[in-house]
Amino acid sequence: MRHLMSPLDFSTKELEKLFDLANDIEKNPKKYEHICEGRILATCFYEPSTRTRLSFESAMTRLGGKVIGFSDAASSSASKGESVSDTIRIISCYADICAMRHPKEGAPMVASEKSRIPVINAGDGGHQHPTQTLTDLLTIRSLKGKLDNFTIGLCGDLKFGRTVHSLINALVRYSNIRFIFISPEELKVPDYITDMLTEKQIPYEEVIRLEDVMPHLDILYMTRVQKERFFNEEDYVRLKDFYILDTTKMALAKKDMLVLHPLPRVNEISVEVDEDPRAAYFKQAQYGVYVRMALILTLLELV
Ligand code: NCD
Repeated sequence: MRHLMSPLDFSTKELEKLFDLANDIEKNPKKYEHICEGRILATCFYEPSTRTRLSFESAMTRLGGKVIGFSDAASSSASKGESVSDTIRIISCYADICAMRHPKEGAPMVASEKSRIPVINAGDGGHQHPTQTLTDLLTIRSLKGKLDNFTIGLCGDLKFGRTVHSLINALVRYSNIRFIFISPEELKVPDYITDMLTEKQIPYEEVIRLEDVMPHLDILYMTRVQKERFFNEEDYVRLKDFYILDTTKMALAKKDMLVLHPLPRVNEISVEVDEDPRAAYFKQAQYGVYVRMALILTLLELV
């Protein structure tokens, strides 16, 4: 039995297979619509979510399976003091696979150790968000036709943004990737990540101004300032509108640059950019369903 805790749990070869399957699901959805009949997915979400939870639910439903779960800790027995280890033992009696989001780093991992069913980490605190990374990689591969040889700019909250941490970890396995980290001083990417890049001799730059690097980017990955992980409101208010991607900045970019964003967006991308053909964040959300369908099939060993 396999779980998914980090994007690195799959080799790059296994990821290719997963993405091929996701692209096939995109082209031939009918072929897959009954494959999970009789199977149940549990979504255990101890933290708010729209996209991740609903895309998991949509994925399982489109495969013919059923979904049970909770969408906030207050409505689960966690509010009575139950541990995730106990909860997953119970969920293992009710479902065949579980997607878990938790504000504490490592909680889905703890659950997986006691689980009798595959557990998918659907985001653990500021740590990892592997299914968002699978979504990001599938989007890049589908729209750019490759996962190597590009310069990616990651912009915004690089300190608390778990999607950023997971994506960097996953991209270092592909050749000739160059990172440009664009953030205010207070929201720089954690040292453990830059140490890892230095050790692997992967080129990266850290800058504050987005305008200066726009012309060099093949992909721009925008992120929201993670309000819920700040210790004080004042810092959040000071930093929340630090970056706003607008048409003036887009005019500086390459003609085929992709703009990605895990969403939800707050102010960091102005709505006028949505009309730009390089804005790929809504397509990205659609790829999130295909890749989660492929992941459920793979972990349930139905393909
Ligand atoms: C991300 C998350 O939860 O980390 N959202 C998502 O799953 N698409 C990004 C975010 O909340 O900013």
